[in-house]
Amino acid sequence: MWDRRDFLSSLMVGALPALSWNSAKDDLFAGIPEKLPDKSLYETNEEVYWSELRRQFLIPRDEVYLNNGTVGSSPAPVLRAVIEGYRNAERLAQSDPEDYPIWGYAAWNEFRDPLAEFVGCKRDEIALVRNATEANSYIANGLDLKAGEEVLMTDQEHPGGEHPWNLKARRYGIVVKKVELPKPVPNAAAVLNLFEDALTPRTRVIFFSHIPTVTGTVLPAKELCSLARSKGILSAVDGAHVPGMMKLNIHEIGCDMYTSSPHKWLQAPKGCGFLYVRDEVIDRLWNTIVTEGWDEPKLRAERFQRIGSSNVPVLCGLKASIELANEIGMDRIEKRHRQMADYILQEMTKRGVTSWTSPDPALRCGISTVSVAPNKMPEMEYWMWKEKKIRIRGGAPHKVRLSTPYYLLHQDIDRYLAAYDEYRLAHPSA
Ligand SMILES: Cc1ncc(COP(=O)(O)O)c(C=O)c1O
Repeated sequence: MWDRRDFLSSLMVGALPALSWNSAKDDLFAGIPEKLPDKSLYETNEEVYWSELRRQFLIPRDEVYLNNGTVGSSPAPVLRAVIEGYRNAERLAQSDPEDYPIWGYAAWNEFRDPLAEFVGCKRDEIALVRNATEANSYIANGLDLKAGEEVLMTDQEHPGGEHPWNLKARRYGIVVKKVELPKPVPNAAAVLNLFEDALTPRTRVIFFSHIPTVTGTVLPAKELCSLARSKGILSAVDGAHVPGMMKLNIHEIGCDMYTSSPHKWLQAPKGCGFLYVRDEVIDRLWNTIVTEGWDEPKLRAERFQRIGSSNVPVLCGLKASIELANEIGMDRIEKRHRQMADYILQEMTKRGVTSWTSPDPALRCGISTVSVAPNKMPEMEYWMWKEKKIRIRGGAPHKVRLSTPYYLLHQDIDRYLAAYDEYRLAHPSA
């Protein structure tokens, strides 16, 4: 049996390495340029411009990261803002003795304003939450639906989008119905027809991912929301992948609710997300997490972000990630995403894979998905990482999802393609 002294000394031994800080060794930003590349470089040589920007990211230079769709990587300007946020918060030096560096009780307009502008809505329609899963849960949990009433979604929803509705179905008897999306989706009309055909007099909500995680298809969000509106049905869109991947204007889409995880394509810190609720719909949504303010309608969407004490420095990072995207320019970022995705898809198609990515350029952006049968997942995914330091996203039995964020270079994609050729040669019949 351990006595108290053994226990304490074990804590000391265990704790020391984590508590010690070698500032020279741990300089997070060693070798990272203090400034972003000059924008004029883009005009003279785009690839050099992006390769200079790549230097702002901590992902080691000898790794190729093709899985930004699962999680992005916050670059130096974002990390610096987070660290600065901690520096301010942890000094507890607020001039107002009632002001503490916690959130969950405040408007945080300094973060909501730039976010609202970036995604095209009003500040009062946005709540800062932790991620898309949390925001989707707020929607499913917060709407009044009766047993037998239906929610219509696709068969390609992320668990963080689908399961909040499954829980509601188990608990309250609502019905979850799904349309099966073709792989690939040939055009927008095919999706609209599927949804329209599946509507019934009991459909109350259409829920879908703007960009489903399974294939990366960009679904015709505006048309789907307009279909819902024309039938008096609420529309809720899971936009986890959208901000930072492509230009977004929520008001133009015309949805009732929109959720996201900007830690993916906006390269924001992990643990910051948002919930948008159209002004006219705010009063129909109950709070899920509740503290003072839940019953004050004049707070508008702010009441959904009142969750108790939380982490302000990540919001400083969120703001910096918006500034970074604006500084580079969303036009350029989206163009780069499309170019890189088209390149990888073309090259994979030449190699005989089956594309699950839409042939319609309007229905694809920074994610390409292919089936590499007979090669198997996750075997190839593990081989890529272990042997080649390349991260892809596999899906059994044969799917590969390839994310091509702007900070990837053509040479990175060529390295992946060479590795794929080598794997295919070594595993002709898998
Ligand atoms: C479409 C979609 N929705 C929701 C999520 C969940 O994101 P988070 O874990 O940040 O809540 C993901 C993550 O991959 C996703 O792709």
